Amino acid sequence: MKNLPVFLMGCGGVGRQLLQHIVSCRSLHAKQGVHLRVVGVCDSKYLVVVADVLTAELDDSFLLEVCRVKSNGSSLQTLANSGVCQVFSGPEVLQKVVDIGRLGKSTGLAFVDCSASAETIGVLNQVVDFGCCVVLANKKPLTVPMEDYDKLVSQPRRLRHESTVGAGLPVIASLNRIISSGDPVYRIIGSLSGTLGYVMSEVEDGKPLSQVVNAAKSLGYTEPDPRDDLGGMDVARKALILARLLGRRLNLDNMKIESLYPEEMGPGVMPLEDFLVNGLPLLDQKIEDRIKQASANGNVLRYVCLIDDARCEVGIQEVPKDSALGRLRGSDNVVEIYSRCYEKQPLVIQGAGAGNDTTAAGVLADILDIQDLFP
Ligand SMILES: NC(=O)c1ccc[n+]([C@@H]2O[C@H](COP(=O)([O-])OP(=O)(O)OC[C@H]3O[C@@H](n4cnc5c(N)ncnc54)[C@H](OP(=O)(O)O)[C@@H]3O)[C@@H](O)[C@H]2O)c1
Repeated sequence: MKNLPVFLMGCGGVGRQLLQHIVSCRSLHAKQGVHLRVVGVCDSKYLVVVADVLTAELDDSFLLEVCRVKSNGSSLQTLANSGVCQVFSGPEVLQKVVDIGRLGKSTGLAFVDCSASAETIGVLNQVVDFGCCVVLANKKPLTVPMEDYDKLVSQPRRLRHESTVGAGLPVIASLNRIISSGDPVYRIIGSLSGTLGYVMSEVEDGKPLSQVVNAAKSLGYTEPDPRDDLGGMDVARKALILARLLGRRLNLDNMKIESLYPEEMGPGVMPLEDFLVNGLPLLDQKIEDRIKQASANGNVLRYVCLIDDARCEVGIQEVPKDSALGRLRGSDNVVEIYSRCYEKQPLVIQGAGAGNDTTAAGVLADILDIQDLFP
C-alpha cells in the first residue's frame, strides 16, 4: 500500500469537504493501493498535528470531529484534550507548519491549500524548496507577483491546481495537455463565474439587473456582499492563472478588469444595504441598452475572461448566440479554447464551476495524481 502524507491548510467549506471525501473514499483508495495519511490541519488561528509526522496520522473519527467542530463555528483548540494530536496557536503555527514541510523530501508530503488567504504563498514557496508537493484550491498563491509565482511553479510536476479554475472541471489538465503537445493556443474565452453567468443569462431574459442580483443574493448564489462577485476580481484571478499557463508574464494590475458597478458604489464608499436598494437600480438601464444592442447584432452578452495574443482581460463581451458561451444558461462555467487543432470549432469544457463538493473532488483527484512521483 502506497502511503501518501497530506497536510491541509484551510478548513472551511472546501477543506472540510475534502476531509470527508478522503474518509469516504478509503475503500476505493485501498483498492487502488493508496492510503492518504492526514498528518495535520490548520486554519487561520490553530494547527492540529500528529506528534510524529513521519509515521502517525489523524484517524478518520478525528478528521470527522475536525469537520464537526469547524462546521459548528467552534475553534480547533477544542480538540486539544483529545489526546491524539498537538495543538499550536499564534506565531507558533507558521513555524510548526514550515517544520512539517521540512520533512517533505523524505516523505513525499502533499501540502494542500484550501484556504482563501494570500498569505500562504510564503509557506508554500518554502515547502516547495523542501521537496513537498503542493495542491491548491486557493487561487491567490498563483496570482502573486511574477517573482513569487516563478518560485511556486519552479517544480511544475510537483504542483497541481485544477480546482483553481472551474472547480472540478478539467480546464487546467486539458490546457496543459494542449500546451505540452506543442499545439499553440490562440484564444481562450470563458464564463468562469457561476454567479455572473447566472446574472447575465437572467438579465438577457429581460429582468432588471437590480432584481436579478437581489434574487441571487437571497438564493445564496452570491457572496454575502454581491459586489465581491460583480467586481470581477475572482474571474480576473482565474484569467491570470490561465494566461500564465500560456506563458504570459502578467500581473493582476496589468489586466483590464471591468466591474459591473462604478467606483462610487464600491464597498468602501457605499454601505451594502444602500447599494442593494438604491445603487443597483441606477445600473439597470445601461445594461438593458447593451443587451438590446447585442441582440440587434445577433449576439448576447456574457461576463467573460478573454485571453489572446494581445489581451488578457475580463468583462462584458458580445458573443454569438449560437456559440457554447451564447447558449449558456444558469450558473454553469463554460470555457472555449481555440488552438491550431481546435481552430474553427473550439474545445469546449462546461459544467458546474463551483461548490464545495466538486471543488474538493478536484483537489482529491490532484492529490491522487501526484502519487506516481513517489515510488
Ligand atoms: N467553494 C467553491 O466553490 C470554490 C471553488 C473553487 C475554488 N475555491 C477556493 O477554495 C478556497 C477555499 O474556499 P472555501 O469556500 O472553503 O473558503 P472558506 O469557507 O472561507 O474557508 C477558508 C478557510 O481558510 C482558513 N484560513 C484563512 N487564512 C488562513 C491561513 N493564513 N492559513 C491557513 N488557513 C487559513 C480559514 O480559517 P478560519 O476557519 O479560521 O477562518 C478557513 O478555514 C478559496 O481559496 C476559494 O477561492 C472555492
